[in-house]
Amino acid sequence: MTGLFISFEGPEGAGKTTVLQEVARRLKDQGYEVMVTREPGGIPIAEKIREVILDSTHQAMDGKTEALLYAAARRQHLVQKILPAIESEKIVLCDRFIDSSLAYQGVARGLGLDEVFAINLFAIGEHMPDCTVFFDVPPEVGLERIWKDKDREQNRLDLETIEFHQRVYEGYQKVISNDEIRFRVVDARKPQSEVVENVWEIISSEVNKHRDS
Ligand code: TMP
Repeated sequence: MTGLFISFEGPEGAGKTTVLQEVARRLKDQGYEVMVTREPGGIPIAEKIREVILDSTHQAMDGKTEALLYAAARRQHLVQKILPAIESEKIVLCDRFIDSSLAYQGVARGLGLDEVFAINLFAIGEHMPDCTVFFDVPPEVGLERIWKDKDREQNRLDLETIEFHQRVYEGYQKVISNDEIRFRVVDARKPQSEVVENVWEIISSEVNKHRDS
């Protein structure tokens, strides 16, 4: 069996990071080898690129520069961490991947889905996630959640307008409709305990399917 590559996507405040940790814990309890990682980041070189992208003082950053930096961080993360984990038969749970670039840079920034897909294809080649869980929450609900969280550090993208985040949400809807087989959509407005159970059902079924294939 080769590894399994699952990404988690959603707008700000969708709660995916907490759910991902809980799902990883359950998989490990069942004896699976799991690697949890995130984008942009996951390894030192990409975490440095993350700092440059998200620095709230970098207001002058051009949209294409931003898209290229995300793609550069993704390339390094893929070759240095994700591919070796897949080759050693791990289950990789990745907090954001290519679909974030398509929704945020391709649609919300207006750079174009095809254009942003092209630079990401250069970065990742054929290594798309096997399955992507989308945490569906309207942008105003997600933003209210993060604004209430006083411990959360505000990054450059949090400072964007509500209209930007609305476009991110619309971007995700487009990306999902282009690839309905890969996506599993979860209603993330529900209480977190219910979201955990819904995501767990999806992940355990993916893992079983993969194991039996
Ligand atoms: P995080 O808050 O989920 O850690 O993500 C950092 C921010 O970067 C978040 O606002 C989403 C954004 N982002 C993009 O705009 N494009 C990307 O390709 C990725 C991975 C994240």
